[in-house]
Amino acid sequence: MLRTSWFSLAFGFALAACASGHGKKIEEASTNPAVGERENARSKFDGEIDDYAKTLREEGREVFRNDTFGDEEFWGGELRLHEAVAKLTPKDALAVGLKVDSGQLGKILVEAIKGGKVSLEKPETTLELLKANSVVGVKAFFDDKGKLNSIGITCALCHSTVDDSFASGIGRRLDGWPNRDLNVGAIVSLAPNLKPFTSTLGVDEAALKKVLASWGPGKYDAEVIQDGKALRPDGKSAATLLPAAFGLAGVNLHTYNGWGSVTYWNAYVAVTQMHGKGTFFDPRLADHRQYPLTKKTGFDDVRPKGEDRVTPKLAALHYYQLSIPPPKPRKDTFDAEAAKRGEAVFASKARCATCHVPPLFVEPGWSMHTAAEIGVDDFQAARSPDAKFYRTTPLRGLFVRTKGGFYHDGRFADLDAVVSHYERQLKLGLTETERRDLVEYLKSL
Ligand code: HEC
Ligand code: HEC
Repeated sequence: MLRTSWFSLAFGFALAACASGHGKKIEEASTNPAVGERENARSKFDGEIDDYAKTLREEGREVFRNDTFGDEEFWGGELRLHEAVAKLTPKDALAVGLKVDSGQLGKILVEAIKGGKVSLEKPETTLELLKANSVVGVKAFFDDKGKLNSIGITCALCHSTVDDSFASGIGRRLDGWPNRDLNVGAIVSLAPNLKPFTSTLGVDEAALKKVLASWGPGKYDAEVIQDGKALRPDGKSAATLLPAAFGLAGVNLHTYNGWGSVTYWNAYVAVTQMHGKGTFFDPRLADHRQYPLTKKTGFDDVRPKGEDRVTPKLAALHYYQLSIPPPKPRKDTFDAEAAKRGEAVFASKARCATCHVPPLFVEPGWSMHTAAEIGVDDFQAARSPDAKFYRTTPLRGLFVRTKGGFYHDGRFADLDAVVSHYERQLKLGLTETERRDLVEYLKSL
């Protein structure tokens, strides 16, 4: 009985293989045992997995870079941000941290900029750059006569930058690298109509502009629209640094205070921050003591009026983000010998590796810690639905996020300051050399 079923199974396979044109391959493979075994073991479904992975990655990249999820109805339609953008010269745009992807420019425009034929001091050039879809994370919409009539934003606005290979702020795109020059607050402030924000937050325009100005470059507050907490008790801005969106595969929880998984957060941002048209559900936000503003916004349970332009993209977007590797620092940017010694300090005496477990540099499992454990105030921790914890930050690719400092609000200006903090907090008793070595190791990650 067992034998016959195995036989018919094998026979069925052979038939299927012949029918799909793989018969020849199998024959060839069987004459070459070295190649044969593995090739034969691949099922048709293995091929489907490969195709699926490729499709997800490519679609996800497109979504990450170019999809507004229909949010132009908010940024253009309601805020009328395009009217302000149309008045910006490329110089102004670069000054608020917007980046230009030279790969989108095309030869003619590149030559014209190089030759000084196109001025970076004229708003018309900004429109040309927008038409070429080269302003990272900004999608412009033009009417039949070529007039800018709306604008939307994409994930890349905050989570990509460029390598400056053409000029400062103009170069090849770097997905996942946080744009620590981007002044989101200053850009939003330019919008002619800020009512959607002032009415939700219950403040006047002057107060809102003060808050937006308090963010500064490289920061954004993704939670104020839920809890209304624009300032910390110490009077400083409640905004956090734009984090890296690379090196996240294998990491369980996301955001500085662990709101949820990557895909959780993608839906959260697409719907409640970018104002894309999609579904978002999180009953935790219906706790009006913690999130009073959801009473007005209904952000605990959002259902799109028309087509859902977010949900069908979440799988690909998730996959793409997990496939972005952490960038590697150039060899001449750290002392390799010292870094090697620092690795040992990291793993033993300094106890860093108990939380930042290599090679993920975050604990496998539930990687959350109280503010007291890491020796900081609990303001930002208290804003997440768990209301208590900070997530261990994955450390690879630290070198691309030195601007703006370290920890969720950039309170430590550089890696020396981070190590000094741990030294005090954990009473490590490191020697001067050990501290230096540890910093070199961090630079090498
Ligand atoms: C306006 C700027 C902005 C835009 C646009 C934006 N993000 Fe973010 N993103 C942030 C900030 C700020 C945080 C940190 C939030 C926190 O910890 O409270 C963050 C956090 C994240 C994280 C968590 C990273 C980690 O270390 O766990 C991921 C993943 C992410 N964003 C992906 C996206 C995707 C995908 C999109 C598009 C759907 C997007 N973001 C759009 C500003 C932005
Ligand atoms: C108890 C767990 C724990 C230990 C031990 C620990 N860390 Fe951390 N680390 C964290 C958490 C949690 C954060 C996030 C803090 C924040 O954003 O406010 C963090 C953040 C960091 C950051 C900032 C990353 C960024 O992009 O902002 C660096 C750098 C860092 N840790 C290095 C170290 C080093 C070096 C050691 C050893 C001396 C160490 N950590 C020990 C939990 C830990």
